[in-house]
Amino acid sequence: MSKRFRVGILGATGAVGQRFIQLLDNHPWFEITAVAASERSAGKPYKEAATWRMDGDIPEKVANFTVQLCEPKLDCDFVFSGLDSNVAGPVESSFAAAGYPVISNSKNHRMDEDVPLLIPEVNPEHTALISYQRSNRGYDRGCLVTNPNCSTIGLTLALKPLNDRFGLQHVSVTTMQALSGAGYPGVSSLDILDNVVPYIGEEEEKMEREPLKLLGTFRETSIEPAAIGISAQCNRVHVQDGHLECVSVALERPADLNDLLDTFRQFKGLPQELNLPYAPKHPIIVREESDRPQPRVDRNTENGMAVTVGRIRACSVLDYKMLVLVHNTVRGAAGTAILNAELLAEQGYI
Ligand SMILES: NC(=O)c1ccc[n+]([C@@H]2O[C@H](COP(=O)([O-])OP(=O)(O)OC[C@H]3O[C@@H](n4cnc5c(N)ncnc54)[C@H](OP(=O)(O)O)[C@@H]3O)[C@@H](O)[C@H]2O)c1
Repeated sequence: MSKRFRVGILGATGAVGQRFIQLLDNHPWFEITAVAASERSAGKPYKEAATWRMDGDIPEKVANFTVQLCEPKLDCDFVFSGLDSNVAGPVESSFAAAGYPVISNSKNHRMDEDVPLLIPEVNPEHTALISYQRSNRGYDRGCLVTNPNCSTIGLTLALKPLNDRFGLQHVSVTTMQALSGAGYPGVSSLDILDNVVPYIGEEEEKMEREPLKLLGTFRETSIEPAAIGISAQCNRVHVQDGHLECVSVALERPADLNDLLDTFRQFKGLPQELNLPYAPKHPIIVREESDRPQPRVDRNTENGMAVTVGRIRACSVLDYKMLVLVHNTVRGAAGTAILNAELLAEQGYI
């Protein structure tokens, strides 16, 4: 029997909300039936409330929806949240308490002990926390599931196969992050033109903390974090989409370069096994050219859902170093949330 779910979007007018609406157009399982945002937008037709900044037109059906308030009486089976983090925490909890599974992009609940922080290729077994979360919080069919920060998603997808096969001791990462990661209007043009801004609020802390939960071990009522030392430095650069990351790793067990290349190339996860609609065929693409990956050239690989790894070579301080590229608003945000929802639907949580 084919699956059909009615979907609501919280924060539908924002950058992430718009990406959800664009990516869910013609999804085989999910149909948008409600859009919600702040009081500023509520009551207006979506096409008037949102300044559409995606390529192409607003999908026709959604364009004429009336934007509703973010109150848990939307006509849908579950919600995606692209809410501003100033309001996401309590709003998302109120939806979960009212019986809606909430698949969120916001940071607010990511590190809650009973909330899965999920990338389906990395830690699909962590969805087992949902049963505990429901009993712990008194939720019935509702639940909270989050996806990580955009740079963390790219980094952790690349680290996962290395950690499984060789073990990771230390990771050092320096990012060059695209402007779309700051939402709209984001960084002022006068601050970023001819420039690099060497600070993104809270980003380094998220990158050092979130991969440890993602690569951690499920322990019935929480996740025991992985014991890996991670050091992150984050920069904003003059690129529209696509976060590029310089990553160095120290491994627990010796590996030669061909082992590393094979490990990346062969990597597949549960979404690929289950053939989920939004799963890329290959979650990691390896480029061997000396000047790849590049944001403009490689970010849309596998519709923006694959991470591209290149320049894999020996490191004279740690063991290996490489470049990792992730499309920050597709794989790094709405795309992973959609894949999370597909996994939860397949596992019967929504
Ligand atoms: N941009 C990225 O690449 C990215 C990547 C990963 C995660 N995230 C996270 O995703 C979330 C959304 O980011 P964004 O860039 O899409 O932000 P954004 O463009 O500023 O959009 C924020 C959304 O939240 C709504 N909102 C604001 N205040 C509200 C309130 N009081 N009640 C209800 N709705 C309210 C806005 O509605 P109105 O239009 O009505 O104000 C808008 O729909 C953030 O938590 C962000 O950290 C962003």
